[in-house]
Amino acid sequence: MSDAEAVARTAALLKQRLGPGAPRIAVLLGSGWSPLAAEVQDAVDVTYAELPAFPVLAVGGHAGLLRAGRLGGVEVLVLAGRQHAYETGRADGMRGVIRTLAAIGIRVLVQTNAAGSLDAALRPGEVMLVGDHINVPQLSPLFGESGDGRFVDLSAAYDPALRAQARAAAARAGIALHEGVYAWVMGPQFETPAEIRMLRSFGARAVGMSTVPETILARHAGLRVLALSLLTNMAAGMEPVPLSHAHTLAGAAAGSERALRLLVAVLQALEC
Ligand code: HPA
Repeated sequence: MSDAEAVARTAALLKQRLGPGAPRIAVLLGSGWSPLAAEVQDAVDVTYAELPAFPVLAVGGHAGLLRAGRLGGVEVLVLAGRQHAYETGRADGMRGVIRTLAAIGIRVLVQTNAAGSLDAALRPGEVMLVGDHINVPQLSPLFGESGDGRFVDLSAAYDPALRAQARAAAARAGIALHEGVYAWVMGPQFETPAEIRMLRSFGARAVGMSTVPETILARHAGLRVLALSLLTNMAAGMEPVPLSHAHTLAGAAAGSERALRLLVAVLQALEC
């Protein structure tokens, strides 16, 4: 089956399973944000394994579940589980997912992730709106694409109007929402202190191992993008503690409740 066929089949299957009135917003859940899936009302679930264009996710990692329903009264399609570039060395693991979203009428991709903070004033548990990104490995999910469409404009990759709506929603909800540049690194190893100093000198405020490939795919497919980073730890060398996955998960759990409230408020404010 070609990629295009897999997307067409997946889109047809989803339309059948989800019925009429497909949502316009998809929310891709990153580490620390997964409790959000449990908040979805009138949920209809489809596992990634049932969807030919979706990646097969490593056992024991992310669930690989698509859940349609309502969050804070807003129709959404929640995606729990992404394939990371560090699993394969490639940035195109979510290509079929993003193209399927576009094919079923999704207009906005809201991405969430966990990230390390490069700013002493931005503490674990706080949330940063991604204003822009730095693709540190300079990998693309569009390698091998043809056509002029592959030369995607990223000069406003994180939709300015959606960001303004998100800022206003956070202010109304009384939850601090910072904003800054997210640096994408390959991982799976954490950074060295020297790498963190370099990224800070580049203007990055947060660092993480996801999101950027999906943003590129989404812009290529014509979706608008909004992204929120939950800061789970201070980046390497900023505090005298070694980093570990367990450390970042603990940081995520600490901030997760507030982050979820913020996300629901943002979803309610999005005009799309
Ligand atoms: N570095 C890279 N990715 C991350 C980090 C970090 O410090 N924290 C959470 N994801």
